[in-house]
Amino acid sequence: MDRQTLIAGLNEDLAAEYSAIIQYIHYSAMVRGPWRSELRAFFQAEIPDEQLHAQYLSDKIAAMGCTPTTLVTPVREADSAEEMLKAVRDAERDAVNRYTERAKQAGELGEIGLKVQLENFIADEQGHLQEVEQMLAGWR
Ligand SMILES: [Fe+2]
Ligand SMILES: [Fe+2]
Repeated sequence: MDRQTLIAGLNEDLAAEYSAIIQYIHYSAMVRGPWRSELRAFFQAEIPDEQLHAQYLSDKIAAMGCTPTTLVTPVREADSAEEMLKAVRDAERDAVNRYTERAKQAGELGEIGLKVQLENFIADEQGHLQEVEQMLAGWR
């Protein structure tokens, strides 16, 4: 485990946070059907958390002497409300897994403040994931 590997991982996380923001805005615009109002409000309510994550990662990468990415992980297209929720569930699950790995890497490098912050991100993303899983569990 070295510093450059950690920073490359943080840039991957940043690109995924930008993707999450776009995904939630895009789905909030595109969602149709009887649950549009609720889903639109739900998608929009996730955006501030992801924006804070992106800002933190960007600041941290810059403070570590590197350039934060402006790339965005592609957003999965979804043509129904259910497909949107599944895409969001998968993205949130991926975020939990990446931050779990990243917190471990930060700990190995003695970056304890970063590790704690990443653990807070895990809690945020697990909260998002749990809500989406509950919606999908009762979808039919
Ligand atoms: Fe996030
Ligand atoms: Fe999230």
